Amino acid sequence: MKRSTFLQDHLLGIEHLSVNDIELILETAESFVEISTRDIKKVPALKGKTVVNLFFEDSTRTRSSFEIAAKRLSADLINFNAPSSSLTKGESLKDTVLTLEAMNPHIIVLRHPSSGAAKYLTTFARSSIVNAGDGFHEHPTQALLDALTIKQKFKTLRGLKISIVGDILHSRVARSNILLHQKLGNKISLIGPPSLVPVEFEEMGTKIYYDIREGIKGSDIVMMLRVQKERGARNYFPSIREYRKFFEINRDIFSYAKNSAILMHPGPLNRDVEIETSLADSDKSVILQQVTNGIAVRMAVLYLLKGEIDEDVD
Ligand code: CP
Repeated sequence: MKRSTFLQDHLLGIEHLSVNDIELILETAESFVEISTRDIKKVPALKGKTVVNLFFEDSTRTRSSFEIAAKRLSADLINFNAPSSSLTKGESLKDTVLTLEAMNPHIIVLRHPSSGAAKYLTTFARSSIVNAGDGFHEHPTQALLDALTIKQKFKTLRGLKISIVGDILHSRVARSNILLHQKLGNKISLIGPPSLVPVEFEEMGTKIYYDIREGIKGSDIVMMLRVQKERGARNYFPSIREYRKFFEINRDIFSYAKNSAILMHPGPLNRDVEIETSLADSDKSVILQQVTNGIAVRMAVLYLLKGEIDEDVD
């Protein structure tokens, strides 16, 4: 298996990946999907390597799937817990990272509320840095696991219409998905209130709609986004009641997409705000498959960064 030229060092965003890089990560992830179905879900690809999960924001899916991914590759893993660390005594991000690096880890997986935090670490850190979500900027492994889920459903990643609905403004998931599907030549519709879907996004090659039915018409994929209350999204529309009226997806609205369409959401869900519970739990939804695929994609990223290439997966 060839190593991506870009992935030799870091994964900071989809922005820096070529189509070949994306395809390599997804093909590698597909081989790890198989490993995750075995009784013994472990390979020695990262034996002797240490991964640090450095999360400055809450996470359920990303943190736990990076942990499972590292363990399935036989890496040693440290879960850094910000609230019980010396950050509370005023230690800076840089000193925290330098301190952890003095213990010689190989990969640091960073989630941070500031856009650009992962790139900042690369200016002084010796480890490979994986961006697990930085502010409004990017969440590359989310877009990659979404792409794997789409590929499993449609057997292709080309010629698709993708609608992304909701709080685009605050969404690193939206940015990474837009970048990825633009590189692959797919059509992208962005749907939401004008306050949460700035027209600048059209410069990224998307089409903006303020009417959800019109926007998702003929879509293969409807990707719902969470209203990010913790980033103040609640101040961008008059009331939850009004938001639901215009932008909550339900079975009736979803029927404007193709019959074969799938419903995605990166999680966590605001049930009955952006997504109606009965649709979220229906057979149209691939939300839990996205979570499952997070492990294989994160195994692929860790492996391509620091694995013994040509040994285990081939
Ligand atoms: N999708 C996502 O990043 O979820 P978590 O915040 O739970 O990791």
